[in-house]
Amino acid sequence: MARIRLFRTIDEMQSSSLQWKREGLRVGFVPTMGALHEGHLSLVDMVRPHCDRLVVSVFVNPTQFGPQEDFNRYPRDIDEDLRLLEEGQADAVFAPEIEEIYPKDYATYVEVERLSSVYEGAVRPGHFRGVCTIVAKLFNIVQPDVAAFGQKDAQQVAVLRRMTRDLHFPIQFLVGPTVRESDGLAMSSRNAYLTNEQRSKATVLFRALKAAEACILAGERNADKVREAMRYVFAEVPEFKPDYGDMVSPESFEQGTEMRGEVLLIVAGRIGPVRLIDNLPVSVEP
Ligand code: PAJ
Repeated sequence: MARIRLFRTIDEMQSSSLQWKREGLRVGFVPTMGALHEGHLSLVDMVRPHCDRLVVSVFVNPTQFGPQEDFNRYPRDIDEDLRLLEEGQADAVFAPEIEEIYPKDYATYVEVERLSSVYEGAVRPGHFRGVCTIVAKLFNIVQPDVAAFGQKDAQQVAVLRRMTRDLHFPIQFLVGPTVRESDGLAMSSRNAYLTNEQRSKATVLFRALKAAEACILAGERNADKVREAMRYVFAEVPEFKPDYGDMVSPESFEQGTEMRGEVLLIVAGRIGPVRLIDNLPVSVEP
C-alpha cells in the first residue's frame, strides 16, 4: 500500500488533484477539523467505493468560530490523524496553515441566506458563513467529484447542500449517518472536553430525541406535544442548559407543524462550558 501523502500548500493539493483528474481518476473528499474519531472515519469508508483517490482535509477553520468560542483549545493532533487515515486508506491529507488559506488581505465570504440564521445560526452568528466559505474554498482546492458530510451536523448538511446547488459545484453530495457511543452520545471531537460527571449527563440529548421519536411512533401528531416530550427529558438534568429542542423540516429548518413525511428532531445546549448538538430524522407514517 502506498503511504498517505501530506499536502501543506494549496498549490501541491490542487495540482495533484488536477493531475488525477487528467488521468481519468475520480476524486473523493471528506473535509474535517481533525481530532478524528469513528464518525469521521465512517465518512472515509463511505466515500471510498465512490472514488479512485480519497482526500481528507484537516483544518481548524478560524472563520467558523465565534470570538468567545473554543478555537484556541480545539483539540489538534495531526500525527494521530495521519495514522488513523493511513489505516482508513485515505490517499492524501490536506492540512494547510491558516495564512495559506486566509492571507492578511483576505476579503471574500460565502453566505447562504435564511437557513444560516436559524437554530445553530442564531446561537452562533457567522458560524455558517465561515463553514460555507471554507468548504467552497476547499472544493476549489481539492476539486472533488464526490464529497461526504455527517448527519451529526444536520443543519450544516442543509446549508452546504444549498450552497453546492446554488453555486453549481459539480459535486456528488453524500451524507453519512451519525455514529454514536454505546450509550447514544453522538461522537464529537468536543466530547473530549467533558468531565466524567458531565459525560454521563450528556446522554440527555439522545434521550430527549428518543423520547420525542417514541411519542411520534406512538401516534402523536401534535407538534407541541412532541416538543414537550423533549422538555420533560431536559428537565431531568438541571446541569443541561438547552438552547433548543424542536421539530423541523430537514431541508428548510422551518419549524414543523405538519406531521407528515420526513421530519427532523433537533436538540442543542450546554453542559458546563461544553456545547453539544444532536438530531434524529423520523419518518412519519400517514
Ligand atoms: P468536523 O466537526 O471535524 O466534522 C467533519 C465531518 O465529520 C462533518 O461532515 C461532520 O458532520 C462529520 N461528523 C462529525 N461527527 C460525526 C458523527 N458522530 N457521525 C457522523 N459524522 C460525523 O464539520 C466540520 O468539521 C467543519 O464544519 C467542516 C465541514 C470541516 C468545515 O470546517
